[in-house]
Amino acid sequence: MKIRTIAFGLVVGSLSLLSYAQQPIVIKFSHVVANNTPKGNAADYFKKKAEELTKGRVKIEVYANSTLYKDKEEMEALQIGAVQMLAPSLAKFGPLGVKEFEVFDLPYIFSSYDDLHKVTQGTMGRKLLDKLDAKGVKGLAYWDNGFKSFSANKPMKAPADFKGMKMRIQSSKVLEAQMRSVGSIPQVLAFSEVYQALQTGVVDGTENPISNVYTQKMHEVQKHLTLSEHGYLGYAVITNKKFWDGLPADIRKQLEDAMDQATRYANQIAKVENDQALEAIKKSGKTEVYVPTAAEKLALKKQMFKAHSEMESRIGKEVIQEVYKSVGFSADKI
Ligand code: LMR
Repeated sequence: MKIRTIAFGLVVGSLSLLSYAQQPIVIKFSHVVANNTPKGNAADYFKKKAEELTKGRVKIEVYANSTLYKDKEEMEALQIGAVQMLAPSLAKFGPLGVKEFEVFDLPYIFSSYDDLHKVTQGTMGRKLLDKLDAKGVKGLAYWDNGFKSFSANKPMKAPADFKGMKMRIQSSKVLEAQMRSVGSIPQVLAFSEVYQALQTGVVDGTENPISNVYTQKMHEVQKHLTLSEHGYLGYAVITNKKFWDGLPADIRKQLEDAMDQATRYANQIAKVENDQALEAIKKSGKTEVYVPTAAEKLALKKQMFKAHSEMESRIGKEVIQEVYKSVGFSADKI
């Protein structure tokens, strides 16, 4: 009797061990933008590839549009292991203590995606991602979004148009300096709060790539959009380092392969999606789209360029210089 009970217990025990062993590893991937954006689509693509390559041993749960966490909370959630993956914009790493990422926010530092890729796909990009290790965070990849436009209820053409305007920014000191350089009053707000803040007049205007403007319907509460392309917004895909290092080696490798494929996909679709969003905004007739002249662009550039030297002590002069060198940027070309 006793032996039969022990044997029964062993069978039940090993069955439950077996079923435990077959439970997929769940990765919660939280982000703040809509599904039909460069980042939203890339996250869904990563899910598909990761589940295929791991043959279902990993399940990716994507939570879009701040449904799980807003900007600040998602960083904290990653560090404590409540979520395993995020792709915050490069402008949101300051609060984590990795200020060097704010180099990507410097106005006019990149004049094209090609310029940007010289950094994100080169040794400097990897070096920056490795700085996250000390925070318990592992940087996996850079995903593109695009170049930003300014929006407001009046046309934003010249530096004088910015004076006294309350402008929503992401949590980056460089963006703060950029807005102050033209006399605006910067206000940090979570992405999920921007639409309402614009609608109710808590802020007067903002900046973002067109895909974000369109999918958050910001163009419906902003009468003017200026295609200034004054700065870049993109992402670092990150994971909890302890979680990542603790994965079985074969699974980690399959996830790395899925990430490589998702990164290629992300960087292919980013420009196309921003172009499509611009067409959709124009078609909506809800906002006036303005393309600044070369002279207007230059005037804004001259003024906003002040943020570069001001931010040297925060980002590190050598970090800025390294980006200048990678992209062939020279201050005297301004
Ligand atoms: C923003 O807060 O404006 C952006 O970072 C949102 C995003 O993730 O693209």
